[in-house]
Amino acid sequence: MKGAKIILGISGSIAAYKVATLCRLLVRRGAEVQVLMTDEATRFITPLTMSTLSKRPVFSAAHADESWNNHVDLGLWADALIVAPATANTLAKMANGFCDNIITAVYLSARCPVFAAPAMDVDMWKHPATQRNIQKLTADGLHFFPVGHGELASGLTGEGRMAEPEFIIEQLSFFLHSSELLKGKNILITAGPTVENIDPVRFISNYSSGKMGIALARAALRAGAQVTLILGPVSESPPNHAHLRVIEVKTAVEMHKAALETFETIDIAILAAAVADFRPTHPVDEKMKKEEGIQPISLTKNPDIAYDLGNRKKKNQLVIGFALETENEKTNAFSKLHKKRLDLIVLNSLKVQGAGFQSDTNQVTLLFANGIEKDIPLQSKEEVATEILEALYHQFIKQQLQ
Ligand code: PMT
Repeated sequence: MKGAKIILGISGSIAAYKVATLCRLLVRRGAEVQVLMTDEATRFITPLTMSTLSKRPVFSAAHADESWNNHVDLGLWADALIVAPATANTLAKMANGFCDNIITAVYLSARCPVFAAPAMDVDMWKHPATQRNIQKLTADGLHFFPVGHGELASGLTGEGRMAEPEFIIEQLSFFLHSSELLKGKNILITAGPTVENIDPVRFISNYSSGKMGIALARAALRAGAQVTLILGPVSESPPNHAHLRVIEVKTAVEMHKAALETFETIDIAILAAAVADFRPTHPVDEKMKKEEGIQPISLTKNPDIAYDLGNRKKKNQLVIGFALETENEKTNAFSKLHKKRLDLIVLNSLKVQGAGFQSDTNQVTLLFANGIEKDIPLQSKEEVATEILEALYHQFIKQQLQ
């Protein structure tokens, strides 16, 4: 989102309060945000709030002298125009080419992609006139953030709630940063920890949050891939995307089974999960009682997904592993790369602050089977993920296409 020029057009709905968060999130992600407000919108949220959050003066119909001259320039300046909330009235005007306020005027001049987050009462939303306008606007190329279902300002319950700001940001980011690097590729990603029960309340696991794997899934989706994410138990949410299939698993055995079942149709498997190497041999069904004293826990080795995929892969398939090391980092990582017949291993270190488990950032070294090495500096896991996929593309996929 860094440097993206976004016009945020606010029309008059109670959902306007959500736009404060949306604006803050956009600015926090490095976007330049120009807010436009209809007169009606200024009754729901003040221009002062929005100019403070966007760090720019707000243009509204109330200041027609300053803003009318700007609509063509604004339409050309923006990388995206988001109308949020988009009322039934504003959508009707946009669908029919009216330009009697600053938002509709800029809309008609905009050459950038246009998005709308409708917000209205359920009956207005379902009305054939609104649905007709939505169809017309969709045919004109406008992108809609789907309305949510729930309690509405009218007191009714149903469809019509404006999409949540976090969802809008996520979808926008997919749109603005999409590429075709991995178009047509099926990518399998394992992420998160596995959890191996000792008894119903105790388990063996590790600190993996799933952030690295989910960041890879996001980056692969942005690069145009079809993604299967096999995800251990995490609190992090994967994105909501039509090209993403999430398979939730708990144990290493479940993750192994899901990976093997999927692998046949996969072009690239990226194994970012921290899989527990061992599981209790005899997990018990009832909680172990401390009165019974300390019981030894015998362990059984879990299947190694990376090893099995590496040994099954066909010529046109790639298997990428991760290694989280604490000592002799490169030597250990290279040994895993060769033992598991991987094409690339992504080495991250527990010794680097801000890298590895749980953090939002990572620093990695890519070790390719052909000896090439590439350092990726400390940055967000999402940026690291993008760089990993770009390196994969340049190392393997580009040649296949030539
Ligand atoms: O989830 P986060 O909090 O964001 O943290 C990300 C991460 C640190 C978990 C991730 O970046 C990472 O390094 N994952 C691999 C962790 C690891 O230590 O793997 P390993 O050295 O045990 O295994 C090497 C490779 O084999 C890995 O690709 C692993 O997924 C795979 N493996 C390991 C054991 C097993 N039974 N099956 C496997 O597939």
